Amino acid sequence: MNFKSEPLISEEKLQTRLDELAAQINKDFGDHPLTVICVLKGAFIFAADLVRRLKMPVHIEFIGVSSYAGTESTGHVRITHDLSADIVGKNVLLVEDIIDTGRTIDYLIDAFRVRAPKSVKVCTLLSKPEVHDMRNKLDYVGFDISKEFVVGYGLDLDGLYRNLPHIAQLES
Ligand code: PRP
Repeated sequence: MNFKSEPLISEEKLQTRLDELAAQINKDFGDHPLTVICVLKGAFIFAADLVRRLKMPVHIEFIGVSSYAGTESTGHVRITHDLSADIVGKNVLLVEDIIDTGRTIDYLIDAFRVRAPKSVKVCTLLSKPEVHDMRNKLDYVGFDISKEFVVGYGLDLDGLYRNLPHIAQLES
């Protein structure tokens, strides 16, 4: 697989934007405890970098969902690993790597609301506003990007390239 020679988003840009996102979340929640739900697998690196910048008491949970085969969304969201604790009465921050068609986050917001948390907010590193119509449901967005398929910093293509330290674009 070939990537464009320049990263779409460099390591440095990622870290700077994470500082800004975390500062906003710290400001919004103050000292109130926060349950951060990392959406596996793609968000694992972003969530790990983000939570180390948060100053309030943080509980970390993981939920596994999958809907992609190759570069295409199957349209069917599947929970592959559920939370290990309940979220009743908690302030929840859902952490995603990317909002593409928006189906996964739409599904998760509904799935979590019925579990009676105090609040549910969404933080995503990447968003494709040309593809989805979820902007008003996204509370913290790292970068808006175009439609092209991207990998790295947790994002994969058929399980590969999650370990790239930056966001790369496939050569079309
Ligand atoms: C990716 C990504 C998001 C979702 C976004 O997950 O991590 O969860 O797709 O796409 P959508 O907005 O079109 O629903 P994927 O299903 O590839 O699983 P993974 O995180 O384990 O790679």
